[in-house]
Amino acid sequence: MSFQTEKLGGHMAAAVSGLDLNHLPDAPMQAALQDVLHDNLVLCIRGQALAPVAFRDAMARFGTPMLRKQLERTPECAEVNIISSEDRDALGDGRKIVNGANWHTDDSFMRAPCSLTMLYGVVVPSRGGDTQFTNMYAAYEDLPTETRRRIDPLKVVHKYHSRRKLTYVSTRPADEMAAMPEATHPLVRTHPETQRKSLYLNPNRMEYIVGLERAESDRLLDELIAHATQMKHQYRHVWRQGDIVIWDNRCTMHKANADYPEGERRLMHRVIVAGTEPV
Ligand code: SIN
Repeated sequence: MSFQTEKLGGHMAAAVSGLDLNHLPDAPMQAALQDVLHDNLVLCIRGQALAPVAFRDAMARFGTPMLRKQLERTPECAEVNIISSEDRDALGDGRKIVNGANWHTDDSFMRAPCSLTMLYGVVVPSRGGDTQFTNMYAAYEDLPTETRRRIDPLKVVHKYHSRRKLTYVSTRPADEMAAMPEATHPLVRTHPETQRKSLYLNPNRMEYIVGLERAESDRLLDELIAHATQMKHQYRHVWRQGDIVIWDNRCTMHKANADYPEGERRLMHRVIVAGTEPV
């Protein structure tokens, strides 16, 4: 087995083809896939046809899959969540939910947020429904030296129901909320595998920068978010059915788009793998 690699964005994202993940890659091939991911931050594996258990098993080669009870799960495999155009707030007012409609990195309200997220395009709309990504290494490296020096030591409190949240957040059972305590993370983190520094922002979950007045904290967070999400730092993934897109939450943010034609379906299967506490 071998694969071909194609660069997708100018500064991030690559697609590989020629693989059928129903047959798990051997160790050298898995290491080569990890390298493509480290170099490109977003890795798309084209042309897959995987049942939920096979999807989970292939993703388990990248890390330890985690259970996420707050999203619907496939009946066949508890570690595979469903993200669908039909998602509704089942425990709340029943309104339609678009998961991840604003810039975010996954699970930053946890002490040890997931390292990678894998989304598998089971049904993709005829147009729209792209996922956007932003390169948080580039966003950090592109800051003036003086700003980097100022923000390097700062820490940020993240929480699930942040006062700064931008989106409607679906209602969760009390036991799940209790399992989502706030977490304090560095504003600039060092990737544990590449050792590169990146901005670590989550517009929907950041509450305040420790040690700053709220107004000053809000101003700095707003400035950094605007800086990080400039077009020059972005890649926009146009889905093909059968794509698996793997992204590194430690050095990217992402955002879903629900702009596909009314009545068309978008169905994704999702796995996340365990991470460590950001440093
Ligand atoms: C997510 O934020 O996990 C979902 C992204 C998408 O559906 O494009």
